[in-house]
Amino acid sequence: MFFDHVPQKRLVCAHRGARSIAPENTLLAMKKARECGASCWETDVRISKDGELVIFHDDTLERTTDIATHKAFRNLTNWHVDQFSVDELRQLDASSWFLTDDPFGTVANGEIKAKESEAIQGQQIPLLREVLDFTKTHSFPVNVEIKDLQTPSGDVLIVDKIIDMLLETETMDLVLLSSFRHEYLHRAKELSPELAIAVLARKEHPSNLVRYLNSFPANAYHPDIDICDEELVAKLLHAGFRVNSWTVNDVGQVQEIHRLGAGVISDWPQLLL
Ligand code: G3P
Ligand code: MG
Repeated sequence: MFFDHVPQKRLVCAHRGARSIAPENTLLAMKKARECGASCWETDVRISKDGELVIFHDDTLERTTDIATHKAFRNLTNWHVDQFSVDELRQLDASSWFLTDDPFGTVANGEIKAKESEAIQGQQIPLLREVLDFTKTHSFPVNVEIKDLQTPSGDVLIVDKIIDMLLETETMDLVLLSSFRHEYLHRAKELSPELAIAVLARKEHPSNLVRYLNSFPANAYHPDIDICDEELVAKLLHAGFRVNSWTVNDVGQVQEIHRLGAGVISDWPQLLL
C-alpha cells in the first residue's frame, strides 16, 4: 500500500512535481521531484475527448500550453482539455511557458541554469501511463488527484479507467488516489479496496469527519493548509488516518505541520529535503 512506501514522519510530497524548478505536471517535474528526494509527488489527471487519461491541472489549456499561439488551435473558441483528442493534446508545448512566465522567480534568480532551460522546452502533456511506468521503474510513489470533470453525478467512468491502468502497470501499491469529488473515491474503494485513497477538502471539513472518512474507508485526509490545525491532526492520527496538508510553501509552516505529525504537499520540495 502507498503508505508503506513513504515515511510516516516529515513526509514531503512534491506538488504537481517539483513545480518551482520545472513546468508543473510534466515528466521533467516528476523526475526533478525524485532527484530532490521528495517522499512522493502529486499530480492531476483528466480525460481527453477520445477517452485517454492525461496529466493536466486546469480545466482549460491556455495557462500552461502554447495553444493561444498554436496555428492549428489558436482560432478555436473552446480550449477545454476534454474537447481535444489525445493526439491533439500531444501536439502542444506544455513547458516553454515556464521560462517566459517564470511563476516562481527561479528563472530570474538563476536557479534554473541555461542547460536546464533547453530541457524545459517542448515537453508534452504526459499520459497517465507514462507516469505510472516511471512509478513502477523507480518505485517512486505518486498521489494521483482526479480532477472534477464536471459531468453529471454518478458519472465515475474515469475511476474505472484509472483502476484498469493501475492493474495493467502493476502500480496499485505505489499510488494514492485523491479527489475533491468524493464519489470518485467511493467508486475506487468499491473496485479496489486495497488502493489507498485520500479525501481532499478545500474550505471546510465534511461534518462528522471521522465517521465520514470511515465510510469509504479512507486512508488519509488532505486538507487545505488554511483549515489544518493541531486539534484536527491529533484527532485524525488518533483515529488511524494519515494527514497531508497542501499547499505548504513556508518553511516555518512546513516545520509546524511536521511537528504535528502530518505531511506536506509543497511547491518547493528542493528546499525542504
Ligand atoms: O492535491 C492537493 C492539491 O493539488 C489540490 O489542489 O488545485 O493544486 O490540484 P490543486
Ligand atoms: Mg492537485
